[in-house]
Amino acid sequence: MAVNILVNVLLLGFLGLFFLCKGQNTSVSLSPMKKKEQETLYSVIQGFIGKEWNGSDLYPDPCGWTPIQGVSCELYDNFWYVTVLNLGPVFDNSYICTHDAQFPDQLFKLKHLKVLSLTGCFLSPTQNPVRFPISHWENFSNSLESLHLRSNPGLVGTIPSTFGYLRKLQSLVLLENGLTGELPSNIGNLVRLRQLVLSGNHFVGEIPFTYGGLSELLILDASRNDLSGALPSTIGFLGSLLKLDLSNNFLEGELPRELGRLKNLLLLDLSHNKLRGGLVGTLEELVSLQHMVMSNNPIGGNLLGIEWKSFQNMESLDFSEMGLTGNVPESMAEMKRLRYLDLSNNNLSGSLFRSLENLPYLAALHLNGNNLTGRLEFSEWFYSKMGKRFTAWDNANLCYIARSMLTWTQTPHGVKLCVHETSLFEETSKMKTNDKDSNFMSSSGSSRCISYGFWWVLNVNVVFHVFIWNMSR
Ligand SMILES: *[C@@H]1O[C@H](CO)[C@@H](O)[C@H](O)[C@H]1NC(C)=O
Ligand SMILES: *[C@@H]1O[C@H](CO)[C@@H](O)[C@H](O)[C@H]1NC(C)=O
Ligand SMILES: *[C@@H]1O[C@H](CO)[C@@H](O)[C@H](O)[C@H]1NC(C)=O
Ligand SMILES: *[C@@H]1O[C@H](CO)[C@@H](O)[C@H](O)[C@H]1NC(C)=O
Ligand SMILES: *[C@@H]1O[C@H](CO)[C@@H](O)[C@H](O)[C@H]1NC(C)=O
Repeated sequence: MAVNILVNVLLLGFLGLFFLCKGQNTSVSLSPMKKKEQETLYSVIQGFIGKEWNGSDLYPDPCGWTPIQGVSCELYDNFWYVTVLNLGPVFDNSYICTHDAQFPDQLFKLKHLKVLSLTGCFLSPTQNPVRFPISHWENFSNSLESLHLRSNPGLVGTIPSTFGYLRKLQSLVLLENGLTGELPSNIGNLVRLRQLVLSGNHFVGEIPFTYGGLSELLILDASRNDLSGALPSTIGFLGSLLKLDLSNNFLEGELPRELGRLKNLLLLDLSHNKLRGGLVGTLEELVSLQHMVMSNNPIGGNLLGIEWKSFQNMESLDFSEMGLTGNVPESMAEMKRLRYLDLSNNNLSGSLFRSLENLPYLAALHLNGNNLTGRLEFSEWFYSKMGKRFTAWDNANLCYIARSMLTWTQTPHGVKLCVHETSLFEETSKMKTNDKDSNFMSSSGSSRCISYGFWWVLNVNVVFHVFIWNMSR
């Protein structure tokens, strides 16, 4: 989802800048770098990018001006030490790992390393499978703040429990690698973590309850793994959390009531899991929430137990394929900022209220594949504003009413006209089923006139609303 990405980019950007801005222009001073540190740096870089590299582009002083991006230093006791190592195609001019890259032994001698970031470094799980070193992470326990490994399908094996030594760590991003095994519980001791991204690996087992100790965490993303078991109730202790994404796993059991304690949460995505037991009423306590995605869970239950008007910041709500039953409560129309509402492919019944039409930002409404009944009473204006983003087909006993002669863009696709209306606007509905382009031609002169007049009003309306919609984005 675009918004999801936006939150990600904003937060990652924020954390990234925070780390990278430090020690940007390090060439001002003429302080030296110890020979030992320099040799260590060179052999570490060689380990990642290949033995052929001779250091000439970092010559004479790797902490001075170089055309290479991704290596930065800071002064400690008047000597330069490497603090940032960022390899992979991230900047225009950064080092790219070689096909047989390894974690070099010398790495743990870089005693002031704060940021290690490897992107697209270990590419082949068959030709060059690489595992995290198990020992020596304690060497980074007073320095490493950020450890990022992205897009390394050749990085296999488990997260070593020795990561538990990295008590300065603020950002652990292990995104889209080939990692397997269970999540180590002692990651929960890294209380400075603000960002924990584990998505796109093959992690199994439960989310350790110890992760509830990460009280400063802003982002928890473990989506797209094979995690199972229930959500730990300790998740309610993550009071700073802005984004919780556990989608596309095999999580089961009920939603813990403690979820409601996440007062700062902006995005909750639990979609594509095996969650059951209905929606818990404490969800309405997530008062900051802007995006909630719960689709594709056999969660069941209904929409009646939740005070929808608590969600005054809600912009998108995806509740499709959840086995929901019962009515669509009218209070859903009290989420005034709603842009996107998807209730499709459930077992919702009863009739729909017209007030949804008054939501000023609503741009998509999906109701198809339910058991809704009765008459859709939305206006022509609403149908034409929504266009293809209004879907209500596959509701066997649903029909729409027409207040005036309608053009085909003003009717809900796949929904029949209510029976007693048919006689009134028989001609319109017949036109609808005919060739769309010949609509006006087959009408009489006067009704053609009306049609055009109507079109004009309609178009002005649409343009106006699109304009407002864009303005408010
Ligand atoms: C960094 O310092 C060098 C030498 O002092 C200077 O030439 C260069 O323009 C500076 N770069 C930035 C981005 O300030
Ligand atoms: C170092 O390698 C570069 C190209 O990678 C080459 O142009 C240069 O001559 C080499 N320098 C030495 C001293 O081998
Ligand atoms: C850990 O750090 C110490 C002190 O800097 C160093 O002597 C030692 O070699 C390092 N261990 C490894 C495995 O690099
Ligand atoms: C809806 O409910 C009926 C009867 O309870 C059931 O047979 C059907 O499978 C349900 N459909 C969905 C999509 O959940
Ligand atoms: C749809 O609702 C009607 C009652 O309104 C009920 O008789 C019927 O079984 C429902 N169908 C499904 C598939 O749930």
